[in-house]
Amino acid sequence: MKDLTLYTSCLEETHILGKKLGEAAEENMVILLDGDLGAGKTALTQGIAMGLGIRKRVTSPTFTILKIYKGRLTLYHIDAYRLEGHAQDLGFDEFLNDDGLTVIEWSQFVPDLIPDEWLKVSIELMDEDKRKFSFIANGSRYEKLLEALI
Ligand SMILES: Nc1ncnc2c1ncn2[C@@H]1O[C@H](COP(=O)(O)OP(=O)(O)OP(=O)(O)O)[C@@H](O)[C@H]1O
Ligand SMILES: [Mg+2]
Repeated sequence: MKDLTLYTSCLEETHILGKKLGEAAEENMVILLDGDLGAGKTALTQGIAMGLGIRKRVTSPTFTILKIYKGRLTLYHIDAYRLEGHAQDLGFDEFLNDDGLTVIEWSQFVPDLIPDEWLKVSIELMDEDKRKFSFIANGSRYEKLLEALI
């Protein structure tokens, strides 16, 4: 396991951070995003989508739970806030083994979906525009992914 802490001081910086992740991501990866409402989970996902070459604007999937975007890798964007543990019925495990990149907001609500290896990003609100990003890489592919941010 490896970890890294970074700060951003505006939305654009978070987009740039996410973009680096999107550019370095490989197929069949999972990124877990945790943090309070408005922390910046969707903002980071927007950056990830930019890094995957996705032109469509990524919006919060809260009411649909899952949104799929086609890019260099297919992005599966899940917001588990409303699921609270009921995800096993939705067939999400099918694409967790697909060649896409899966990003899960509120991953703590869907423990059954979490694979053995992952990149976890915990986002904390420090100030109106300042955010703290704590990354934990679990697995060698994810440790390599973290290096793209240094
Ligand atoms: N440094 C920053 N990084 C990211 N977002 C920021 C930053 N500074 C201010 N913001 C603002 O904070 C908000 C982050 O919202 P976002 O939808 O990404 O949060 P979220 O964690 O996905 O929340 P939710 O749990 O409701 O899905 C946006 O309105 C954004 O403009
Ligand atoms: Mg969100």
